[in-house]
Amino acid sequence: MTEITKDTLFQTAVDVLHLNDRGTYTVPTSGLYPFQWNWDSCLVALGQRHVDEARAWKELETLFAHQWDDGMVPHIVFHEMDDGYFPGPDVWKTGRSTPTTGITQPAVAGFAVNRLYEHAKDKTLAIEKAQALLHGIDRWHSWFYHYRDPKNTGLVALIHPWEAGRDNSVDWDDPFDSVPTDGIGAYQRRDTQHASAEHRPTSEQYDRYLWLVQRFRSLGWDNQQLHDASPFQVVDPGFNALLIRSCADISALAETLGEQEIAARNKAFANKALNALDGLWSDRLNQYVCFDRVKGSTIESPSVGGLIPVVAPIPKERADAIAARINEWGERCQYLVPSHDPADASFDSKRYWRGPSWLIVNYLIADGLRNAGIHDVAANIEKQSLKLIQKSGFAEYYDPISGEPCGGKTFTWTAAMVLEFLRTSDDA
Ligand code: DGY
Repeated sequence: MTEITKDTLFQTAVDVLHLNDRGTYTVPTSGLYPFQWNWDSCLVALGQRHVDEARAWKELETLFAHQWDDGMVPHIVFHEMDDGYFPGPDVWKTGRSTPTTGITQPAVAGFAVNRLYEHAKDKTLAIEKAQALLHGIDRWHSWFYHYRDPKNTGLVALIHPWEAGRDNSVDWDDPFDSVPTDGIGAYQRRDTQHASAEHRPTSEQYDRYLWLVQRFRSLGWDNQQLHDASPFQVVDPGFNALLIRSCADISALAETLGEQEIAARNKAFANKALNALDGLWSDRLNQYVCFDRVKGSTIESPSVGGLIPVVAPIPKERADAIAARINEWGERCQYLVPSHDPADASFDSKRYWRGPSWLIVNYLIADGLRNAGIHDVAANIEKQSLKLIQKSGFAEYYDPISGEPCGGKTFTWTAAMVLEFLRTSDDA
Protein backbone atom coordinates (compact mmCIF):
# COMPACT_ATOMS: atom_id res chain seq x y z
CA MET A 1 0.00 0.00 0.00
CA THR A 2 1.36 3.48 -0.83
CA GLU A 3 1.85 6.11 1.90
CA ILE A 4 -0.97 8.25 0.47
CA THR A 5 -3.45 5.42 0.67
CA LYS A 6 -2.31 4.65 4.19
CA ASP A 7 -2.80 8.26 5.25
CA THR A 8 -6.25 8.45 3.70
CA LEU A 9 -7.24 5.20 5.35
CA PHE A 10 -5.93 6.47 8.68
CA GLN A 11 -7.92 9.69 8.40
CA THR A 12 -11.10 7.87 7.39
CA ALA A 13 -10.75 5.60 10.42
CA VAL A 14 -10.28 8.65 12.68
CA ASP A 15 -13.45 10.16 11.17
CA VAL A 16 -15.42 7.01 12.09
CA LEU A 17 -14.16 7.26 15.68
CA HIS A 18 -15.25 10.90 15.86
CA LEU A 19 -18.62 10.16 14.32
CA ASN A 20 -19.41 7.67 17.10
CA ASP A 21 -17.77 9.60 19.95
CA ARG A 22 -20.24 10.69 22.64
CA GLY A 23 -17.66 12.63 24.67
CA THR A 24 -16.82 10.19 27.47
CA TYR A 25 -17.64 6.95 25.67
CA THR A 26 -18.04 5.72 22.12
CA VAL A 27 -21.01 3.87 20.62
CA PRO A 28 -20.17 0.89 18.36
CA THR A 29 -22.34 2.46 15.63
CA SER A 30 -25.35 4.73 15.89
CA GLY A 31 -28.73 3.11 15.28
CA LEU A 32 -27.93 -0.57 15.77
CA TYR A 33 -25.86 -0.13 18.97
CA PRO A 34 -26.54 3.29 20.56
CA PHE A 35 -24.88 2.71 23.99
CA GLN A 36 -21.50 1.78 25.46
CA TRP A 37 -20.50 -1.85 24.95
CA ASN A 38 -17.82 -3.35 27.21
CA TRP A 39 -15.31 -5.06 24.92
CA ASP A 40 -16.00 -2.62 22.10
CA SER A 41 -14.87 0.24 24.32
CA CYS A 42 -11.70 -1.51 25.50
CA LEU A 43 -10.62 -2.28 21.93
CA VAL A 44 -11.71 1.14 20.68
CA ALA A 45 -9.38 2.76 23.25
CA LEU A 46 -6.50 1.06 21.42
CA GLY A 47 -7.40 3.00 18.29
CA GLN A 48 -8.11 6.25 20.13
CA ARG A 49 -4.61 6.25 21.63
CA HIS A 50 -3.19 7.06 18.19
CA VAL A 51 -5.22 10.26 18.12
CA ASP A 52 -5.58 11.34 21.75
CA GLU A 53 -4.23 9.32 24.69
CA ALA A 54 -6.28 11.17 27.30
CA ARG A 55 -9.46 10.31 25.38
CA ALA A 56 -8.44 6.65 25.23
CA TRP A 57 -8.02 6.49 29.02
CA LYS A 58 -11.39 8.22 29.43
CA GLU A 59 -13.12 5.48 27.43
CA LEU A 60 -11.96 2.88 29.95
CA GLU A 61 -12.60 5.07 32.99
CA THR A 62 -16.20 5.58 31.89
CA LEU A 63 -16.72 1.84 31.55
CA PHE A 64 -15.22 1.06 34.96
CA ALA A 65 -17.26 3.81 36.62
CA HIS A 66 -20.20 1.43 36.07
CA GLN A 67 -18.59 -1.67 37.58
CA TRP A 68 -20.95 -3.50 39.92
CA ASP A 69 -20.29 -3.78 43.66
CA ASP A 70 -19.62 -7.50 43.28
CA GLY A 71 -16.89 -6.75 40.70
CA MET A 72 -18.73 -7.49 37.44
CA VAL A 73 -18.23 -5.06 34.57
CA PRO A 74 -21.50 -5.12 32.59
CA HIS A 75 -21.78 -5.77 28.88
CA ILE A 76 -23.76 -2.59 28.08
CA VAL A 77 -24.00 0.74 29.90
CA PHE A 78 -27.19 2.56 28.89
CA HIS A 79 -25.94 6.13 29.30
CA GLU A 80 -28.77 7.82 27.44
CA MET A 81 -32.11 6.34 26.54
CA ASP A 82 -32.65 5.25 22.95
CA ASP A 83 -35.77 3.45 21.79
CA GLY A 84 -33.99 2.11 18.74
CA TYR A 85 -32.45 -0.78 20.71
CA PHE A 86 -34.06 -3.89 22.19
CA PRO A 87 -33.72 -5.20 24.90
CA GLY A 88 -33.32 -1.90 26.73
CA PRO A 89 -33.13 -1.09 30.47
CA ASP A 90 -36.84 -1.75 31.05
CA VAL A 91 -36.25 -5.39 30.08
CA TRP A 92 -33.02 -5.89 32.05
CA LYS A 93 -34.23 -4.07 35.19
CA THR A 94 -30.91 -4.37 36.99
CA GLY A 95 -31.70 -1.49 39.35
CA ARG A 96 -28.51 0.48 38.67
CA SER A 97 -28.71 4.29 38.84
CA THR A 98 -27.26 4.49 35.36
CA PRO A 99 -28.91 1.40 33.86
CA THR A 100 -26.72 -1.48 32.69
CA THR A 101 -27.31 -5.02 31.52
CA GLY A 102 -26.76 -7.82 34.06
CA ILE A 103 -24.26 -9.97 32.17
CA THR A 104 -20.65 -9.37 31.18
CA GLN A 105 -18.44 -9.59 28.07
CA PRO A 106 -14.92 -10.77 27.11
CA ALA A 107 -12.34 -9.48 29.57
CA VAL A 108 -10.06 -7.50 27.29
CA ALA A 109 -9.66 -4.46 29.58
CA GLY A 110 -6.46 -5.83 31.15
CA PHE A 111 -4.93 -6.41 27.75
CA ALA A 112 -5.98 -2.93 26.56
CA VAL A 113 -4.75 -1.08 29.65
CA ASN A 114 -1.39 -2.83 29.49
CA ARG A 115 -1.01 -1.95 25.83
CA LEU A 116 -2.02 1.67 26.41
CA TYR A 117 0.49 1.90 29.24
CA GLU A 118 3.36 0.21 27.41
CA HIS A 119 3.17 2.49 24.37
CA ALA A 120 2.06 5.68 26.13
CA LYS A 121 3.81 8.85 25.07
CA ASP A 122 2.54 10.62 28.19
CA LYS A 123 3.98 8.32 30.87
CA THR A 124 2.88 10.47 33.83
CA LEU A 125 -0.72 10.30 32.71
CA ALA A 126 -0.38 6.59 31.95
CA ILE A 127 0.92 5.75 35.43
CA GLU A 128 -1.91 7.67 37.08
CA LYS A 129 -4.64 6.13 34.90
CA ALA A 130 -3.27 2.59 34.83
CA GLN A 131 -2.81 2.54 38.60
CA ALA A 132 -6.47 3.49 39.12
CA LEU A 133 -7.85 1.07 36.52
CA LEU A 134 -5.70 -1.81 37.76
CA HIS A 135 -7.81 -2.21 40.91
CA GLY A 136 -11.09 -2.38 39.01
CA ILE A 137 -9.70 -4.88 36.54
CA ASP A 138 -8.31 -7.04 39.34
CA ARG A 139 -11.75 -7.03 41.02
CA TRP A 140 -13.37 -8.04 37.71
CA HIS A 141 -10.94 -10.92 37.21
CA SER A 142 -11.55 -12.09 40.79
CA TRP A 143 -15.29 -11.86 40.12
CA PHE A 144 -14.92 -14.18 37.12
CA TYR A 145 -13.05 -16.89 38.98
CA HIS A 146 -15.30 -16.62 42.02
CA TYR A 147 -18.74 -16.55 40.40
CA ARG A 148 -18.17 -18.27 37.08
CA ASP A 149 -15.98 -21.10 38.29
CA PRO A 150 -17.73 -22.22 41.47
CA LYS A 151 -16.09 -25.66 41.37
CA ASN A 152 -12.62 -24.15 41.02
CA THR A 153 -11.72 -25.86 37.75
CA GLY A 154 -9.56 -22.94 36.59
CA LEU A 155 -11.91 -22.02 33.72
CA VAL A 156 -14.94 -19.74 33.73
CA ALA A 157 -18.33 -20.37 32.11
CA LEU A 158 -20.58 -18.06 30.12
CA ILE A 159 -24.21 -18.04 31.14
CA HIS A 160 -25.48 -16.19 28.06
CA PRO A 161 -24.19 -16.24 24.45
CA TRP A 162 -24.07 -12.42 24.46
CA GLU A 163 -21.29 -12.69 27.06
CA ALA A 164 -19.06 -14.43 24.52
CA GLY A 165 -19.46 -11.57 22.08
CA ARG A 166 -19.95 -14.34 19.48
CA ASP A 167 -23.73 -14.16 19.89
CA ASN A 168 -25.03 -16.76 17.43
CA SER A 169 -21.96 -18.99 17.02
CA VAL A 170 -22.58 -22.57 15.91
CA ASP A 171 -20.96 -23.45 19.27
CA TRP A 172 -24.18 -22.59 21.10
CA ASP A 173 -26.54 -24.66 18.91
CA ASP A 174 -26.27 -27.79 21.08
CA PRO A 175 -26.29 -26.11 24.50
CA PHE A 176 -29.31 -24.10 23.35
CA ASP A 177 -31.31 -27.36 23.43
CA SER A 178 -31.46 -26.88 27.20
CA VAL A 179 -32.81 -23.32 27.00
CA PRO A 180 -36.60 -23.13 26.71
CA THR A 181 -38.55 -20.42 24.88
CA ASP A 182 -41.88 -20.62 26.68
CA GLY A 183 -43.46 -17.72 28.53
CA ILE A 184 -41.31 -14.91 27.17
CA GLY A 185 -44.23 -12.86 25.84
CA ALA A 186 -44.42 -10.81 22.67
CA TYR A 187 -41.58 -8.45 21.81
CA GLN A 188 -40.28 -6.51 18.88
CA ARG A 189 -36.71 -6.84 17.69
CA ARG A 190 -34.98 -3.62 16.69
CA ASP A 191 -31.72 -4.96 15.29
CA THR A 192 -33.36 -6.12 12.05
CA GLN A 193 -34.61 -2.56 11.44
CA HIS A 194 -30.99 -1.38 11.26
CA ALA A 195 -29.30 -4.36 9.60
CA SER A 196 -30.37 -7.09 7.19
CA ALA A 197 -32.21 -9.95 8.91
CA GLU A 198 -30.10 -12.34 6.80
CA HIS A 199 -27.00 -11.09 8.62
CA ARG A 200 -28.45 -11.36 12.13
CA PRO A 201 -29.39 -14.14 14.60
CA THR A 202 -32.63 -16.02 13.90
CA SER A 203 -35.84 -15.31 15.83
CA GLU A 204 -35.59 -18.68 17.55
CA GLN A 205 -32.15 -17.74 18.88
CA TYR A 206 -33.51 -14.37 19.98
CA ASP A 207 -36.28 -16.08 21.95
CA ARG A 208 -33.65 -18.04 23.85
CA TYR A 209 -31.50 -14.96 24.48
CA LEU A 210 -34.57 -13.33 26.02
CA TRP A 211 -35.62 -16.36 28.02
CA LEU A 212 -32.21 -16.31 29.72
CA VAL A 213 -32.46 -12.58 30.45
CA GLN A 214 -35.89 -13.08 32.01
CA ARG A 215 -34.68 -16.03 34.08
CA PHE A 216 -31.75 -14.05 35.50
CA ARG A 217 -33.97 -11.04 36.13
CA SER A 218 -36.35 -13.27 38.13
CA LEU A 219 -33.37 -14.08 40.38
CA GLY A 220 -32.67 -10.41 41.03
CA TRP A 221 -29.37 -10.53 39.10
CA ASP A 222 -27.79 -12.21 42.11
CA ASN A 223 -24.50 -13.63 40.88
CA GLN A 224 -24.41 -16.04 43.82
CA GLN A 225 -27.26 -17.84 42.07
CA LEU A 226 -27.01 -17.15 38.36
CA HIS A 227 -24.30 -19.61 37.29
CA ASP A 228 -25.93 -22.70 38.83
CA ALA A 229 -29.44 -21.58 37.86
CA SER A 230 -28.57 -21.12 34.20
CA PRO A 231 -29.42 -23.91 31.75
CA PHE A 232 -26.68 -22.43 29.58
CA GLN A 233 -23.19 -22.82 31.10
CA VAL A 234 -20.53 -23.00 28.43
CA VAL A 235 -16.77 -22.90 28.83
CA ASP A 236 -15.51 -21.07 25.74
CA PRO A 237 -11.77 -21.46 25.05
CA GLY A 238 -11.53 -18.09 23.27
CA PHE A 239 -13.25 -16.25 26.09
CA ASN A 240 -11.06 -17.95 28.69
CA ALA A 241 -7.91 -17.24 26.69
CA LEU A 242 -8.72 -13.53 26.54
CA LEU A 243 -9.19 -13.55 30.30
CA ILE A 244 -5.89 -15.42 30.73
CA ARG A 245 -4.09 -12.89 28.55
CA SER A 246 -5.60 -10.02 30.52
CA CYS A 247 -4.60 -11.65 33.82
CA ALA A 248 -1.03 -12.15 32.57
CA ASP A 249 -0.87 -8.61 31.22
CA ILE A 250 -2.12 -6.90 34.35
CA SER A 251 0.10 -9.12 36.46
CA ALA A 252 3.11 -7.73 34.58
CA LEU A 253 1.74 -4.18 34.76
CA ALA A 254 1.02 -4.49 38.50
CA GLU A 255 4.58 -5.67 39.03
CA THR A 256 5.89 -2.56 37.25
CA LEU A 257 3.62 -0.31 39.29
CA GLY A 258 4.59 -1.94 42.60
CA GLU A 259 1.23 -3.62 43.23
CA GLN A 260 2.60 -7.00 44.33
CA GLU A 261 -0.64 -8.49 45.58
CA ILE A 262 -2.48 -7.82 42.33
CA ALA A 263 0.50 -9.14 40.38
CA ALA A 264 0.63 -12.41 42.32
CA ARG A 265 -3.12 -13.01 42.26
CA ASN A 266 -3.45 -12.51 38.52
CA LYS A 267 -0.40 -14.60 37.76
CA ALA A 268 -1.91 -17.45 39.76
CA PHE A 269 -5.24 -17.10 37.86
CA ALA A 270 -3.42 -17.18 34.52
CA ASN A 271 -1.24 -20.17 35.35
CA LYS A 272 -4.07 -22.30 36.67
CA ALA A 273 -6.32 -21.42 33.73
CA LEU A 274 -3.60 -22.13 31.16
CA ASN A 275 -3.21 -25.67 32.51
CA ALA A 276 -6.96 -26.24 32.47
CA LEU A 277 -7.32 -24.77 28.97
CA ASP A 278 -5.26 -27.59 27.52
CA GLY A 279 -8.09 -29.95 28.46
CA LEU A 280 -10.20 -28.26 25.75
CA TRP A 281 -7.83 -29.25 22.94
CA SER A 282 -9.44 -31.52 20.32
CA ASP A 283 -6.99 -33.83 18.54
CA ARG A 284 -9.68 -34.59 16.00
CA LEU A 285 -10.29 -30.97 14.98
CA ASN A 286 -6.75 -29.80 15.72
CA GLN A 287 -8.02 -26.79 17.67
CA TYR A 288 -9.65 -25.94 20.99
CA VAL A 289 -13.38 -26.58 21.50
CA CYS A 290 -16.06 -25.47 23.98
CA PHE A 291 -17.25 -27.51 26.95
CA ASP A 292 -20.90 -27.69 27.94
CA ARG A 293 -20.98 -27.70 31.74
CA VAL A 294 -24.66 -28.62 31.90
CA LYS A 295 -24.30 -31.71 29.69
CA GLY A 296 -20.77 -32.47 30.91
CA SER A 297 -19.35 -32.89 27.40
CA THR A 298 -17.25 -31.06 24.83
CA ILE A 299 -18.91 -29.35 21.87
CA GLU A 300 -17.14 -30.52 18.71
CA SER A 301 -17.76 -27.34 16.74
CA PRO A 302 -14.89 -25.88 14.68
CA SER A 303 -15.37 -22.18 15.35
CA VAL A 304 -12.90 -19.31 15.67
CA GLY A 305 -13.46 -19.52 19.43
CA GLY A 306 -11.06 -22.46 19.25
CA LEU A 307 -8.37 -20.42 17.46
CA ILE A 308 -8.55 -17.24 19.58
CA PRO A 309 -6.56 -18.99 22.39
CA VAL A 310 -3.38 -18.19 20.46
CA VAL A 311 -3.77 -14.77 22.14
CA ALA A 312 -2.72 -16.43 25.42
CA PRO A 313 0.72 -17.90 26.16
CA ILE A 314 -0.29 -21.42 25.07
CA PRO A 315 2.36 -24.08 24.23
CA LYS A 316 4.22 -23.46 20.94
CA GLU A 317 2.95 -26.67 19.32
CA ARG A 318 -0.63 -25.54 19.94
CA ALA A 319 0.08 -22.13 18.37
CA ASP A 320 1.65 -23.85 15.35
CA ALA A 321 -1.40 -26.08 14.96
CA ILE A 322 -3.67 -23.02 15.12
CA ALA A 323 -1.59 -21.30 12.42
CA ALA A 324 -1.95 -24.41 10.25
CA ARG A 325 -5.70 -24.37 10.84
CA ILE A 326 -5.89 -20.70 9.76
CA ASN A 327 -3.99 -21.51 6.57
CA GLU A 328 -6.39 -24.39 5.91
CA TRP A 329 -9.42 -22.10 6.34
CA GLY A 330 -7.69 -19.55 4.11
CA GLU A 331 -7.75 -22.01 1.20
CA ARG A 332 -11.54 -21.69 1.12
CA CYS A 333 -11.90 -17.94 1.55
CA GLN A 334 -10.27 -14.72 0.41
CA TYR A 335 -10.46 -12.77 3.65
CA LEU A 336 -9.24 -14.32 6.86
CA VAL A 337 -10.22 -15.17 9.60
CA PRO A 338 -13.75 -16.56 9.21
CA SER A 339 -15.66 -17.06 12.46
CA HIS A 340 -16.40 -20.68 11.56
CA ASP A 341 -14.57 -23.36 9.59
CA PRO A 342 -15.63 -22.79 5.94
CA ALA A 343 -15.46 -26.56 5.34
CA ASP A 344 -18.07 -27.26 8.02
CA ALA A 345 -21.70 -27.78 6.96
CA SER A 346 -22.93 -25.10 9.42
CA PHE A 347 -20.74 -22.38 7.92
CA ASP A 348 -22.82 -19.38 6.78
CA SER A 349 -20.73 -16.65 5.16
CA LYS A 350 -23.05 -13.72 5.99
CA ARG A 351 -24.68 -14.57 9.30
CA TYR A 352 -22.92 -12.71 12.08
CA TRP A 353 -20.72 -15.20 14.00
CA ARG A 354 -21.45 -18.28 11.88
CA GLY A 355 -18.92 -17.47 9.17
CA PRO A 356 -18.12 -13.77 8.68
CA SER A 357 -14.70 -12.28 9.38
CA TRP A 358 -14.33 -9.64 12.10
CA LEU A 359 -11.40 -7.25 12.34
CA ILE A 360 -11.16 -7.40 16.13
CA VAL A 361 -10.72 -11.16 15.96
CA ASN A 362 -8.09 -10.73 13.25
CA TYR A 363 -6.24 -8.26 15.41
CA LEU A 364 -6.25 -10.45 18.52
CA ILE A 365 -5.22 -13.57 16.59
CA ALA A 366 -2.47 -11.72 14.70
CA ASP A 367 -1.14 -10.34 17.97
CA GLY A 368 -1.03 -13.83 19.48
CA LEU A 369 0.64 -15.31 16.40
CA ARG A 370 3.35 -12.64 16.53
CA ASN A 371 3.99 -13.36 20.22
CA ALA A 372 4.36 -17.02 19.26
CA GLY A 373 6.89 -16.03 16.56
CA ILE A 374 4.56 -16.95 13.67
CA HIS A 375 5.01 -13.71 11.76
CA ASP A 376 4.10 -14.83 8.24
CA VAL A 377 0.55 -15.91 9.12
CA ALA A 378 0.07 -12.77 11.25
CA ALA A 379 1.26 -10.55 8.39
CA ASN A 380 -1.07 -12.30 5.97
CA ILE A 381 -4.06 -11.70 8.27
CA GLU A 382 -3.12 -8.03 8.63
CA LYS A 383 -2.71 -7.61 4.87
CA GLN A 384 -6.06 -9.23 4.11
CA SER A 385 -7.75 -7.10 6.80
CA LEU A 386 -6.58 -3.87 5.19
CA LYS A 387 -7.54 -5.12 1.72
CA LEU A 388 -11.01 -5.81 3.06
CA ILE A 389 -11.36 -2.26 4.38
CA GLN A 390 -10.20 -0.75 1.10
CA LYS A 391 -12.71 -2.85 -0.76
CA SER A 392 -15.71 -2.61 1.57
CA GLY A 393 -15.28 0.20 4.11
CA PHE A 394 -15.63 0.12 7.89
CA ALA A 395 -18.40 -2.45 8.34
CA GLU A 396 -19.27 -4.46 11.44
CA TYR A 397 -18.11 -7.71 9.76
CA TYR A 398 -17.54 -9.16 6.29
CA ASP A 399 -18.39 -12.13 4.14
CA PRO A 400 -14.99 -13.92 4.09
CA ILE A 401 -15.54 -15.26 0.57
CA SER A 402 -16.83 -12.20 -1.31
CA GLY A 403 -15.66 -9.46 1.06
CA GLU A 404 -19.20 -8.04 1.14
CA PRO A 405 -19.74 -5.65 4.09
CA CYS A 406 -22.34 -6.99 6.58
CA GLY A 407 -24.22 -5.84 9.69
CA GLY A 408 -23.79 -2.24 10.85
CA LYS A 409 -21.92 0.46 8.93
CA THR A 410 -19.25 3.00 10.04
CA PHE A 411 -18.26 0.68 12.84
CA THR A 412 -16.04 2.01 15.61
CA TRP A 413 -14.00 -1.04 16.57
CA THR A 414 -13.32 -1.87 12.94
CA ALA A 415 -11.90 1.65 12.53
CA ALA A 416 -9.90 1.29 15.76
CA MET A 417 -8.34 -1.95 14.55
CA VAL A 418 -7.38 -0.30 11.28
CA LEU A 419 -5.54 2.40 13.24
CA GLU A 420 -3.77 -0.34 15.17
CA PHE A 421 -2.81 -2.25 12.01
CA LEU A 422 -1.53 0.94 10.37
CA ARG A 423 0.36 2.33 13.34
CA THR A 424 1.55 -0.59 15.43
CA SER A 425 4.81 -0.83 13.53
CA ASP A 426 5.43 2.85 14.46
CA ASP A 427 5.25 2.10 18.19
CA ALA A 428 8.54 2.49 19.99
C1 DGY B 1 -26.92 -7.40 20.23
O1 DGY B 1 -27.78 -6.72 20.75
O2 DGY B 1 -27.02 -7.94 19.14
C2 DGY B 1 -25.64 -7.49 20.93
O3 DGY B 1 -24.74 -8.28 20.28
C3 DGY B 1 -25.84 -7.94 22.34
O4 DGY B 1 -24.72 -7.50 22.99
